[in-house]
Amino acid sequence: MKDSVRHEKIILPPSALLNPVPVVMVSCAGPNREFVQDRPNIVTIAWAGTVCSEPPMVSISVRKSRHSHRLMQETGEFVINLVGINLLRACDYCGVRSGAKEDKFAAAKLTAVPAEGLEHAPAILEAPVSLSCKIVSVSGLGSHDLFIAKIVAVTADKYLMDKEGKLCLEKADLVCYSHGDYYQLGRILGFFGYSVASPEAYKRRMTEKAAVVKKDTGKPVNKKNMPQGTPKRKKTT
Ligand SMILES: Cc1cc2nc3c(=O)[nH]c(=O)nc-3n(C[C@H](O)[C@H](O)[C@H](O)COP(=O)(O)O)c2cc1C
Repeated sequence: MKDSVRHEKIILPPSALLNPVPVVMVSCAGPNREFVQDRPNIVTIAWAGTVCSEPPMVSISVRKSRHSHRLMQETGEFVINLVGINLLRACDYCGVRSGAKEDKFAAAKLTAVPAEGLEHAPAILEAPVSLSCKIVSVSGLGSHDLFIAKIVAVTADKYLMDKEGKLCLEKADLVCYSHGDYYQLGRILGFFGYSVASPEAYKRRMTEKAAVVKKDTGKPVNKKNMPQGTPKRKKTT
C-alpha cells in the first residue's frame, strides 16, 4: 500500500481506544468471609496499568456496579494475578459472571490462597505471578472509579526463575487484550534499548529470548480448567 494512502486519516468519536492492554484477574474478598457476599471473588480487568516504580504502584479502573468494587473498597486490598494461556478461559469467565451470584473460584476450579502481605484479599494459586496491592486512593472518574494501589508483595512460580535468580516472564505464556480480543504473546521483536544496542549484544539477547519463547509457547489451552459452554455475554468494560 502506498504511504499516501496508508496515512490518509479519518476522525472517530473520542473513545477509550488505547490498545493493546494487559488483561488480569483481580482477586479480592470482603471483611467478613462468613458471609456469602464477602466470599473470595475474581474480577477480570483490562483497564489496569503501572503508574509508579518507586514505590511500585498500579491502577485499576472498576465500575461501581461490580460486586468486587465494594469488596475492594471495604478492605482496601486486591491482588492482581497475571494471566497465562492456561488461565485465559477462566479469565474470560470471571469477566462475564458476577461474584454476587456465584462462587467464581469454585466455578473456574481455581484455588484461593492467602496473599503475601495482605489480610483479606486472596491470591490465585494457579496464576504465574500475583501482585498484592494495598489501595491508597479511589477517585470517581465517571463510568469507572480509579483505584490506585501500592504493590506490597509479589509472588511468582518458581519455574519462572533462571539459575541466576532472574525472573523470566517470557516463560509464563502471558496474554494481552486488544479491542475485544485476546492475544498470545509469543514472538520477540526487540528489547528495551535494542535500537541502540551493539550488533553482538542484540544477537545474543535475541537468540536467548527467542529460544525461551519458542520452547514455552503453543501449549494447548487448558479447557479442563473451566466449565464448558459459552456464557451469555454482555458489553463488559
Ligand atoms: C476482557 C474483559 C475485561 C474487563 N475489564 C474490566 C475493567 O477494566 N473494569 C471493569 O469494571 N470491568 C471490566 N470487565 C467486566 C467485569 O470483569 C465483569 O463485569 C465481571 O462480571 C464483574 O464481576 P463481579 O461482579 O464479580 O465484580 C471486563 C470483562 C472482560 C471479559
